[in-house]
This record gives sequence, structure tokens and C-alpha cells, in this order.
Amino acid sequence: MREFLCTDCDFKKIANLVYSACGIVLGEHKREMVYSRLARRIRERKLTDFKAYLEYLDNNKDQEFDAFINAITTNLTSFFREVHHFEFIKSHLVPALLKTNKDSRRVRIWSAGCSTGEEPYSLAMTLNNAFPSNWDVKILATDLDSNVLAKAQKGIYTAANVNGLDDVQLKRWFLKSKNGENYKVKDKLQESISFRRLNLLQDWPMKGPFDLILCRNVVIYFDKETKDQLFKRYANILNEHGYLFLGHSESMGKEHSQYNSLGKTMYQKGHNAR
Ligand SMILES: C[S@@+](CC[C@H](N)C(=O)[O-])C[C@H]1O[C@@H](n2cnc3c(N)ncnc32)[C@H](O)[C@@H]1O
Repeated sequence: MREFLCTDCDFKKIANLVYSACGIVLGEHKREMVYSRLARRIRERKLTDFKAYLEYLDNNKDQEFDAFINAITTNLTSFFREVHHFEFIKSHLVPALLKTNKDSRRVRIWSAGCSTGEEPYSLAMTLNNAFPSNWDVKILATDLDSNVLAKAQKGIYTAANVNGLDDVQLKRWFLKSKNGENYKVKDKLQESISFRRLNLLQDWPMKGPFDLILCRNVVIYFDKETKDQLFKRYANILNEHGYLFLGHSESMGKEHSQYNSLGKTMYQKGHNAR
């Protein structure tokens, strides 16, 4: 016997609400996950079951809806995740931008779905000193989930979170807490990043153009229609030869002729694209 009753109808309602709010598709196989994540909310709100929670959500949208969506998003990330992308940035992207952007001296990178910030901070570490000091290099980091974004902005990580970083990186970019349990990102690294809350399915307030967009391990939760729309919108906000990086299990169909595939889930916008 489960703690809270969750009927097929309750699950369908939840799946519909989540899909229309943020594009995340909750199939039957996600039922356990949805149960355990929302059970916490139900307990906290001292409600009796999922039906009561849905009623509560309906009557208290302003207070509860963000927490509802935050509970559903999956935020797994790490520093230098899919390290080949950061190697490509160093070996190919930076040299290319030093040529193509030499007149504007402007570089814009968007970490779309940045979760708790490891991705944009890894970008900032990679780009440090890569461009002359009179260049304007900025990273925009956005996520829908207000909890992870707050964590990203704070820039405080546990020893386990920074496990993959070497001693030189840790010394250079982090301040260790007195008890040795936490690592705080130094201001110097944070300066180049703007954190903003943004639902990818809604209007984007920024104009771009971006030289690189990382949308990694985000579209895996979307259906084809949502993905296709997003890839088109990314093409519109990318620079003429801008890059789009997806996550390791994500790909773009051949119909997206605005992009050339560079392999390893990296794509480049271009005239002679497929
Ligand atoms: C698994 S994390 C990926 C983090 C990082 N990009 C990486 O690859 O390590 C996916 C992130 O996408 C965000 N997300 C999901 N749907 C979104 C939407 N519609 N708009 C903005 N962010 C969304 C989630 O909140 C979550 O933090």
C-alpha cells in the first residue's frame, strides 16, 4: 500500500501540466519518479493524496507551480561533463573566433539549461585568458528551475561536486571553506557569467547573436516537435557560423539543413550545410 494514492487520471493531469509548461514529456516509465518527487511536496503540504495536491496546485498556482516544476526537472550535471566539448572550444572554437570576431571583439556563449552551474563555470575556466583583455567575452547561463539557478548563482559546491577538478583548477578558481567541506567559486570566475531564469519554450528576451549555444542533456526530455522548434530558434539566434552543442545521447535530424554536423553532438550553422 502506497503512502499516497496516485490514479491514472492524476498522473495524466500531471503529465499534461508539465508538458504544456516546459515541454518535458512524462511517459508511463516516469511514473515512479513523479511519485517520489511529488510525494515530498504532498507531505510538506500535509495533503492526503495526488488528487488533493492537484486541487491545491490549481488553487495556489502563484505559490506552488514553481515548486511543482522544480520537483519534476532532472538536474544531473558535473564540471567538464563531456570533456571533448571543452577540448573543441580550446582547440577549434577559440582560434576560429579570434579570426571571425576580430573586428567586433565580442564573444557570446549561452549555456541553455545550465542546472546548478557546473557547465557555465567550466566554460568560464576554459575561456579564461583565451582572448585578449580588450575583448568582450560573456556567458549567459539560463535554467527554468529556480532552485538550481539559485545554487548556480551562489557557486558553492561540495567536495564530491568538485571531485573531477585537479588541484591547480581548485586552487585557482575556488575558495575552500574552513572545515574543508565546501568550495566557493571565486568572484573572478563568476564575473563573466550572467545567470537568468528562462523557460526555453517561452519568449527569449535576449537578441544574441551567440557564437556558441550549449543545450546539453535538456532536449532528451522533449518530444520531436519541441526539439525541432528549439533547433530552429537556436539557428535564428546563432551567429552566421555559430555552434550548437547537444548532450551525449541527443542528436538532430537531417532535416535541420541550417546546421552541419561536426560529430560528437557538435553542430555548426553554415551556408553549405546539408
Ligand atoms: C540534466 S540538466 C543538464 C545540465 C547541463 N546542461 C549538463 O549537460 O550537464 C537539464 C536541465 O534542463 C532544465 N530544463 C528542462 N526543461 C527546461 C525548459 N523548458 N526551459 C529551460 N530549462 C529547462 C532543467 O531544469 C535542468 O536543470
